[in-house]
Amino acid sequence: MGIIPVPRVAVIVVAAGSGTRLAAGAPKAFVGIDEHSILRHALEGVVAAPTAQVVIVAPHGRAGDAQTEAEAAFGERADLVTVVVGGDTRQQSVAAGLGALWADVEIVLVHDAARALTPPEVFERVIAEVERTGAGVVPVRPVVDTLKRVTGRVVDEAVDRAPLVAAQTPQGFPRALLEAVYAGATEEHTDDTALFAAAGHSVHTVAGDDLSFKITTPADLDRARHLLRPAAHTASVLPLVGIGTDVHAFGGDGALRLAGLEWPGEPGLRGHSDGDAVAHAIVDAVLAAAGLGDIGTNFGVDRPEYAGASGVVFLRRVRELVAEAGFAIGNVSVQVQANRPRFASRRAEAEALLTQALGAPVSVAATTTDGLGFTGAGEGVSATAVALVHRIR
Ligand code: CTP
Ligand code: MG
Repeated sequence: MGIIPVPRVAVIVVAAGSGTRLAAGAPKAFVGIDEHSILRHALEGVVAAPTAQVVIVAPHGRAGDAQTEAEAAFGERADLVTVVVGGDTRQQSVAAGLGALWADVEIVLVHDAARALTPPEVFERVIAEVERTGAGVVPVRPVVDTLKRVTGRVVDEAVDRAPLVAAQTPQGFPRALLEAVYAGATEEHTDDTALFAAAGHSVHTVAGDDLSFKITTPADLDRARHLLRPAAHTASVLPLVGIGTDVHAFGGDGALRLAGLEWPGEPGLRGHSDGDAVAHAIVDAVLAAAGLGDIGTNFGVDRPEYAGASGVVFLRRVRELVAEAGFAIGNVSVQVQANRPRFASRRAEAEALLTQALGAPVSVAATTTDGLGFTGAGEGVSATAVALVHRIR
């Protein structure tokens, strides 16, 4: 297979407008969406696109600020970025950007900084279509509203929306054609494919994206802010995992209590409480998942009311603590390492009892350790639990 030559792509990001309709007290590109400006968000979309040069067209007096945003967005790749100052109209600003292109650029994309949330895939689709067709390329969305042609406030006729689409950016072009069109331009056009088509060149469409909407009015800025907010929200609704381990030595008074069950005839475990390592591991795992400390901070030796308490009592209390903190328990998986007791015949009984105490599914597994370690030597029992919780308020 031969090597496919990759045309060198430049993106001109026009950011020189004043943002009259947004009226936010600063040039639109420097208005914050969250902690980052409109320009910074627009550049984050460009960073991920396969480009060799990025030209930012900045408002008068703001080239230094644009450079700072470029360095924040591009990091080590900031040498790809050229900043120039724009003109009084968008078309003049694009012309200023064209004047800064490097000699070996073959494909040019022109992008509105105001379309700050444009996903990188749109850039990829536009570049691929310019390469495939050699034409101008515009990303589009279907028109959803019913359209009317009006004179003043009177409707003349309904307009069939079927052949209509809404144009977005980035719009892509073979560099040589776009430069020739700009050099010969005599009238202002609202976008680059309009100018390109007016000069007789063909323009193809690719799918745009709803996220590519242009931030024009305060309502658009609100929409962008709402769209960026889910990131934090999602983090808080993701489940949270916790792990707990407990070990007890054989040699306690009375019969064994493990996994909430009594095991007549089996040696007991030593402990401040009943030594139920399985219940204690579950308690630690659930508390850890909910960020509520551990068994020591909640039921330690400074809490005499829990001395000798059964593991099931701890589980019921943990269930309350977790619910009070605003969490639901998803499930718990616990594994016991011990030579004795043999869990196989009582596993279902243990799972049912623990599940009832905790109010969430608990699965119990048991294993021996091939004669190795303290569990293999029959000195004690070890249990490890993993718990999943999720925030419900
Ligand atoms: N633009 C530009 N130079 C201009 C005018 C506009 O670079 N002289 C850019 C804007 O920065 C924006 C894009 O073109 O990224 C689309 O323009 P628009 O949404 O109209 O932005 P503004 O002109 O800044 O807003 P307004 O028309 O409300 O003043
Ligand atoms: Mg404008």
